Amino acid sequence: MMHVYLETYGCQMNVADSELVTAILKSGGCEMAETPELADAILLNTCAVREHAEERIIGRVGELAQHKYERPQVIIGVLGCMAQHLGEDLIKRSRFVDIVAGPDSYRRLPGLLERARAEKALDVRLDRRETYDGITPERADGVTAWLTVQRGCDKCCTFCVVPAVRGRERCIPLADLVLRAEKLAAEGVREITLLGQTVSSYTDGEHDFAALLLELARIPELLRIRFTSPYPTDFSPKLIEAMAKCEKIARHVHLPLQSASDAVLKKARRRYTIADYDAVLQALRAAMPGMAVSTDIIAGFHGEGENEFQETCDYIRKARFDFAFMFKYSRRSRTAAWRWQETVDEETKSRRLKTIIDIQEQISREVQQACVGQTARVLVEGVSKREDGWLFGKTSEFRQVVFEDPAARPGDMVDVKVVGATGHTLIGERAGAAK
Ligand code: 5AD
Repeated sequence: MMHVYLETYGCQMNVADSELVTAILKSGGCEMAETPELADAILLNTCAVREHAEERIIGRVGELAQHKYERPQVIIGVLGCMAQHLGEDLIKRSRFVDIVAGPDSYRRLPGLLERARAEKALDVRLDRRETYDGITPERADGVTAWLTVQRGCDKCCTFCVVPAVRGRERCIPLADLVLRAEKLAAEGVREITLLGQTVSSYTDGEHDFAALLLELARIPELLRIRFTSPYPTDFSPKLIEAMAKCEKIARHVHLPLQSASDAVLKKARRRYTIADYDAVLQALRAAMPGMAVSTDIIAGFHGEGENEFQETCDYIRKARFDFAFMFKYSRRSRTAAWRWQETVDEETKSRRLKTIIDIQEQISREVQQACVGQTARVLVEGVSKREDGWLFGKTSEFRQVVFEDPAARPGDMVDVKVVGATGHTLIGERAGAAK
């Protein structure tokens, strides 16, 4: 029996994919190992979105290779987006890598592990039909769960490697998703997060994303439904209306902006202007007052001069996002922008990144502070490490809250009065049981 240790990097989709990989390995006769020391095979599920993510993995493979010195038969495998992105070159870049398996190769992993005992095993075939239909992901116990509803991406933004490494968009039929969600609910799950690269463009030919949300919300045990990430202009009035009328759908949307300059958005092949984006943001907030909105922003993409950058700074101040993930543009092979000469030097990118982080951090602090004094409905997720008897959970707006409550249990929905805010966490006091 082969023992496999699996480490996950990157986005939530990778975390969900690792649950699939675990299920596939187990049904192929493997057992999961808690640490690399206990493993015959060490697998890394990886990200390719920025160069830094790939460099980190090469470094980690080097570190893990020490296990090969002690036990030469140990296999090291790189899975996921970086494997798909670099393919055979990955083996050239690090001779310790024995398996290279892309996001559509996971069904064949048991065979690849077998093959890797004798030779380097490479499988980076993309399959536009692969949705891992029929495989139940192996998840840790808990009240929250991922539900992948869509794989791949058709948007083809010029900066982004995802369509190249995850292939074209395909969606899982609504009926299958409802069955899976019902099963999760029966296992004690109270909150599901629907995953897709552009989840709001979901369609199974018959049902759109609004229909999917409303159908899943009918499952009585599910108390909350989240999704990530929508594409800004796929936010139809119908979808906003569906969200507004269904309290179970979280009052938080992650709406990737990338830039607030129309010139940069055009270069990025985003399918909206800043006016379009802002209209969606305003419509969401009008329909659901108090809703939280977060975003992604790239500093230093093509066409971003000082003026364009200022437009982004101004918009961040205006939009007042709850939080934002911000990155320096990283030029990726197998994207459209790869062929273009970069227009912003590294130093300028760093300076701009720091500027937007500073602006946003101030706003995030103010938004957090404004929660103090309010009562929030919290879904209890687990026991907090903070102090004995403390629990943690999240509000509908995706705010983390810790509070003391001897009576509540994970999976309970409770009303908590926010009495303080530290960093990214709110401190609460039990206000009563939610109805
Ligand atoms: N460079 C920097 N950031 C990128 N992202 C995607 N591709 C790149 C890139 N080449 C960011 C975008 C996206 C998030 C997941 O990662 O902001 O929304």
